[in-house]
Amino acid sequence: MPAHSFQAEVGRVLSLVINSLYSNKEIFLRELVSNASDALDKLRFRAITEPKLLEGEPDLVVRIRPDKERGVLVIEDTGIGMTEAELVENLGTVARSGSQAFLAQLEENAKKDVSLIGQFGVGFYSAYLVADEVTVTSRAAGSDHAFRWSSSGKDTFSVEPAERATRGTSIELHLKPDQKNLLDEWTLRDLVRRYSDYIAYPIELESTKEGKVERDRMNKAAALWQRPKAEITEEQYEELYRHLTHDYEPPLARTHFRVEGNVEFVGLLWLPKRAPFDLDDPRHQRGMRLFVKRVLVMDDCDAILPQWLRFVRGLVDSDDLPLNVSRELLQESGTLRTIKKQVTKRVVDLLDELAKDKPEDYRAFYGTFGRILKEGLVVDGEWKDRVAALTRWSSTETKATPGSAEGGPSSRSDQDETVSLADYVARMKEGQDAIYYVTGESRAALLGSPYLEALRARGYEVLLMTDAVDTWAAEAIAEHGGKKLVNAMRADVKLPAKDGEAPKDDAEASKGIEALASAARTALEGKVRDVKASSRLVDSPACLVLAQGAMPAHLEKIMKQSGKEIPRGKRGLEINPSHPAVKRRGAIAAENPSDPRLRDLVVLLYEQSLLAEGSPLDDPNGFAKRLTALLVQAVGAS
Ligand SMILES: Nc1ncnc2c1ncn2[C@@H]1O[C@H](COP(=O)(O)OP(=O)(O)O)[C@@H](O)[C@H]1O
Ligand SMILES: [Mg+2]
Repeated sequence: MPAHSFQAEVGRVLSLVINSLYSNKEIFLRELVSNASDALDKLRFRAITEPKLLEGEPDLVVRIRPDKERGVLVIEDTGIGMTEAELVENLGTVARSGSQAFLAQLEENAKKDVSLIGQFGVGFYSAYLVADEVTVTSRAAGSDHAFRWSSSGKDTFSVEPAERATRGTSIELHLKPDQKNLLDEWTLRDLVRRYSDYIAYPIELESTKEGKVERDRMNKAAALWQRPKAEITEEQYEELYRHLTHDYEPPLARTHFRVEGNVEFVGLLWLPKRAPFDLDDPRHQRGMRLFVKRVLVMDDCDAILPQWLRFVRGLVDSDDLPLNVSRELLQESGTLRTIKKQVTKRVVDLLDELAKDKPEDYRAFYGTFGRILKEGLVVDGEWKDRVAALTRWSSTETKATPGSAEGGPSSRSDQDETVSLADYVARMKEGQDAIYYVTGESRAALLGSPYLEALRARGYEVLLMTDAVDTWAAEAIAEHGGKKLVNAMRADVKLPAKDGEAPKDDAEASKGIEALASAARTALEGKVRDVKASSRLVDSPACLVLAQGAMPAHLEKIMKQSGKEIPRGKRGLEINPSHPAVKRRGAIAAENPSDPRLRDLVVLLYEQSLLAEGSPLDDPNGFAKRLTALLVQAVGAS
């Protein structure tokens, strides 16, 4: 008998399952029934083009057979079955991408967070919660040969030729001594009703009474989503969600709808509570399932949803698509375009409702998936306004959770207060005519930035944007509620004059500033686009501003980190004419434009501004020398 070793990860998964799910042993049944249902789905799909796969066994069914004499529980299906190689591959390895890293994370959290395990799809191995020996006998559809896999769940398993009259898989669980109650019919009925009632195939309890085989169906065996909503319980919805997603946590929200008209379909969509660990992996699957006339035709049908809603889970079942759809065909299908549009609308409606009726849940959702939702602003003009209304922002008026945003490097916590664009507009100050924002690495860094000074002096609220996508998102929104979004870091920001502040006309001072600006232009040639006096600053002597369309410093940094060599975009340098340091330099410049001290002084202004926008210095040593010289002067002068 050829012995195989489990892949190392399997051992880790097995011990995780045993150690963290010991108080939920009965979940094994729903996992095995769920696998049986998947196998039946796959068979039915392949039979569309190869009807002869159904020969010899026309029934699509799951059977549960307690054998009291041997202490064995059998779960059998007439599904697609497994070949010898598939038995080895599917039951001997953990195939999911990113499994190494995720397992390490799991092992760390397993004690406090059992729900994470479910995401991993540990399904089959849950058999070892109740059995000390498992044998799987399977005959793949279309094959004449059957094989038996068996293992006591330690280090090895074996696979050998076996007998099986027809297509499908039987799983024999040799129950642990304290699990024999699972052979009781009522216990089994109860478990099936609780966990597997949504399954669209018949689940039969098979028993032999007086030498005769009796089969008794335990579930409704109709696609849950086709039943009237009023007849579906929360538990049934939840179990179906679990089956489709492997998520052990209940979902955050759901929408179940029927669309009638030119294209008819049923949709059942959920928002998960947490992001799957591999959401950012391009190979990530498990999004939307596509059914045609109740038959699962595609497991991970990304064509139903736009990319920016890729966190949504669920299914669509339509009678208006051909059973033999392919991904290529879907690309071209007008029917699918209609479905996609409707599905998108339903998700956006659901988010609207959630934001209105359950703000706490919406906040949790936004904390987890907001950055993905915002991609929709950039790529999908059609939904821009509705998505913009769903965005939430941190601002100079919102509070951050103590210890999270203001302090640490993490830019935002789900608990932080946020503001919607509508609320921002509603509380705008008199005379304010735009929605102001700044973008940067963290809330803490932005709060200290010079760009806020003049806005805050006028009492204006400023949105603090810290996600990488935000610069593009804000530019895409462009306008909301009739108000323009204005990046306070841009060169062309024009602010209304502050109340009671008449523009000063101090000819001598402005001559000085002009002389200083001109000296700066010479000293900083090649580094800045232009130098000019500005009214945006209050406490800072100078700052750098972005040209229209230029990339902010923190994004340049992100691009560099990801290996893209991009030159630093040239900024404009704006100087604060009412700052004492600037005035003093202006006076020096007015007196003698070629004063040798001027050069170092303007370079220092520039360097200080670089630091304020979060950029690295070109010449840190030079900066240190200039600063030291200045300090020495200051001490000398006192
Ligand atoms: N009854 C079955 N019939 C056919 N294949 C099965 C059956 N049970 C399990 N498998 C195979 O074993 C794999 C592992 O199952 P499982 O551990 O539950 O993970 P998942 O269901 O998340 O893929 C399945 O993906 C499937 O390929
Ligand atoms: Mg499974």
